[in-house]
Parts: sequence; C-alpha cells; structure tokens
Amino acid sequence: MSASGDDRSVEASIVARLRAAGCVDPEAEAAFVRRHLHTAHDVEHAVAARVRGMPLEQAVGAAEFAGVTVAVADGVFVPRARAAAVVEVAAREHPGARVVVDLGCGAGALAAAMAARLPGAEIHAVDIDPAAVVVARCNAWRHGFTPHHGSWWDGLPTNLRGRIDLAVAYLPHVPSGQVRLLPPDHRAHEPRRTVDGGPDGLAPLRTVLGEADAWLAPEGRLVTLLTREQARTAGGRIAGGDDEDAVVVFDRAAVRR
Ligand SMILES: C[S@@+](CC[C@H](N)C(=O)[O-])C[C@H]1O[C@@H](n2cnc3c(N)ncnc32)[C@H](O)[C@@H]1O
Repeated sequence: MSASGDDRSVEASIVARLRAAGCVDPEAEAAFVRRHLHTAHDVEHAVAARVRGMPLEQAVGAAEFAGVTVAVADGVFVPRARAAAVVEVAAREHPGARVVVDLGCGAGALAAAMAARLPGAEIHAVDIDPAAVVVARCNAWRHGFTPHHGSWWDGLPTNLRGRIDLAVAYLPHVPSGQVRLLPPDHRAHEPRRTVDGGPDGLAPLRTVLGEADAWLAPEGRLVTLLTREQARTAGGRIAGGDDEDAVVVFDRAAVRR
C-alpha cells in the first residue's frame, strides 16, 4: 500500500524538525518513530523529546536489537547494535546451552535476543540499577526471561551456581577518562555507571571474572565485547567482532583460580 499525501506530509514535517535539531540521519529516525508509534499524540511526544536531546530510542520507548524489539526508558542504557555480536557468538559457541545469564542487563536486550535464539533455555538477567530492572521486567514478560536486581553474580539465585552454560555481558567498559567523549544525548540520559569501566575500562570485567569459576558450568563460558585494544590486555579468546570491537570468550577452564 502506498503512503497517502497526509502520511507523506507528517513524515516530511518530522524529518524537518529532526534535521533542524541536528539529528545526523533524520529520515532514518523519522522512519523509526513511525514504525513504533501509531498515534499523532505519541509521535508528537517522541519527536518533541528527541528535539530536546533525548536519545531516539528512549524518546520512542523502544529499541531494535539483534532481531528483537525491546522497551527502553529514559535513564536506562540504550542497547547498542554493536553488542549484537555478543549474542551471535554466544549462540554459535554453545547452541545447546540450557542455562543462560545476561550480566548487567539494562533493559534486557541481550537476554531477549538469547531467548529468541535458544527457545528451550532457562534465561536470567541481572542489573544493579532498579530502574533498569523495572524495564527488564516488561521485556521479560514478552520475551521469556527472568530478571533480578543485584550486583553481577550476587544478584542471581544461588541455585544457578555451577550451572550456567553461557553468560553474556555487555559490561561498562569505557575508560573513566573517555566518558566525557561520549555523545552528549547519551551522557545526559544514561547513568555514568552504565558505561564507566574504571581507569582502563576493564574493572567490571575483572570483578565478573573473579567469581566466574563458581557460577559457570564445567563447559560454561562468558562472552563479552571489548575494544580490540582492551581485548589484548584482558586475555580470553577472540571469537568475532570488527576493526574496532572484539567479541571475547572466557572459557571456565581459563578463569579457574
Ligand atoms: C553497557 S550497559 C549494558 C546494558 C545491556 N546489557 C545492553 O546491552 O543494553 C551496562 C549495564 O551494567 C549495569 N551495571 C553496572 N554495574 C553493575 C553491577 N555491579 N551489577 C550489575 N549490573 C551493573 C548498568 O546498570 C548497565 O545497565
């Protein structure tokens, strides 16, 4: 069905407002708004929030990630397309995984995408930020995973100890000194804790690896995304990525203390 004249003029007006606000790809953003919002009121609310500087996904309340759509909200980390590589590598590494966890889940995008790829698996997600857990709860109901509130492994039910086949984690890994270089809209609408990984960006990973031995199953593994440079320092096995990012796999055998 072709778009009506009214549709085209609504679209053109959204594009013009987004362009005037400095959005880099206003056509793609307008199409995203129209894909997810279907009343004039919702569209207006989202475009106004975007024009004021809110990240697009938070303004719309939805993010597209690795083939699934998840709810997002102001103050909760927006899933990044680059982290989809973690999901692809994890599902390829262990297609028979029975127990999967998403550490630092934010809205739960990785958990939702893993649920779509491993429909028989028991999937848990954990975050320290209560606001993230509230959003993850909405996504959990729709996508089929169980959210928890707490710090890394400690937030998970103790009956998962030694049983986790796959831990996927898009951890905070921006070196503290580089956080100020992130796009201003994200800095204003995502808590610093979602991105700041300490002096070299690897502090959360070190904490998580320190306890991984107790939680992963004998053949279990942790899959994460780092910069290429960080991956050289962190060790682990590089199993995917691109020129900038590396998907790094830590086998339980390699993290045993
Ligand atoms: C880079 S964001 C990734 C969020 C989500 N995995 C995604 O890709 O959309 C990192 C997440 O780790 C969470 N986080 C930070 N410290 C944590 C901790 N000690 N325990 C659990 N989660 C934590 C933050 O609240 C944030 O949601």
